[in-house]
Amino acid sequence: MKVSIIGAGNVGGTLAQRISEAGLADVVLLDIAEGLAKGKGFDLSDARSITSKNHRISGTSDYNEIRDSTVVVVTAGLARVPGMTREDLLKKNAAIIKKVIYSIAENAPDSIIVMVTNPLDILTNLALHLSKFSPQKVIGMGGVLDSARFANLIAEHLDVPVTSVEALVIGAHSKDMIPLAGFSKVSGKPLTQIVSAERCRDLSLATAQRGAQIVACLGQGSAYYAPSAAAFKMVKAIIGSENIVVPACVYCNGEYGIEDTCIGVPARLGSRGVEEIIELDLKVEEKEKLLNSAKFIKEAAANLA
Ligand code: APR
Repeated sequence: MKVSIIGAGNVGGTLAQRISEAGLADVVLLDIAEGLAKGKGFDLSDARSITSKNHRISGTSDYNEIRDSTVVVVTAGLARVPGMTREDLLKKNAAIIKKVIYSIAENAPDSIIVMVTNPLDILTNLALHLSKFSPQKVIGMGGVLDSARFANLIAEHLDVPVTSVEALVIGAHSKDMIPLAGFSKVSGKPLTQIVSAERCRDLSLATAQRGAQIVACLGQGSAYYAPSAAAFKMVKAIIGSENIVVPACVYCNGEYGIEDTCIGVPARLGSRGVEEIIELDLKVEEKEKLLNSAKFIKEAAANLA
């Protein structure tokens, strides 16, 4: 099997490393900056003798090389720099995504697209619209990352192993995300029974601010270790037909009362992409927030089309 990664920057390069080291699939790294993609491809390929992995890995700027990909992950785009508004970023990345998606549709029409570029939800809707792929085959990475951040912050707060924490965040991959404390558990016990409502709110808020906290520390660029780990988990679920349920930005049409919009909800991922959307029994305020986010995302995506 072959996974192509569009954008050989921090997220793309680290994802390529994870796929290669796991021995999951052949990897093609594609970037508009040809030297960057080629150089990382050579470097990662050299590492295979040490990690004892035989899958091929290469870098290119030629879309011919993504032919027959099972999955194409899109990380191409700009990161927000100081002074740039979200709207500016959206315009710039939408223009990039437009070109990228047309090229994927032309060269890898049978692939499953995993979107990573931000603003994630709006661009996943754009990708679905432009690719004309079946909605099952266009999936955005947001919820896995947000849930991992929530889990980590819960584990650190309670001083318990992170593996004993199951956390769930749905909704937009933005400050409007919806951490679900009632569906998050520590050693099987709901978080809401372990910490106060006020502490749940603090942990949720810290989760929503985590990306910005990392950006502020790094000084330039944004997070990529956890984002690439999240994208890896989704790619592995598809390539390995794992049929696991993860929160992902998927096309809802009726589910949760959402009409014709991609947004973060729990979904079963397998070889066909989205195998099933899981409808949770949300609290009234959680459902309201989800519907408001869906409305905002739908309008923003419609303005781009
Ligand atoms: N085609 C292909 N690659 C492109 C294009 C394009 N049209 N435009 C930009 N790129 C490439 C850049 O050359 C760069 O190598 O996308 C890459 C982006 O890499 P980084 O700047 O390192 O950004 P990264 O940290 O990887 O984040 C990428 O993922 O998590 C999100 O918010 C993040 O939207 C951002 C994306």
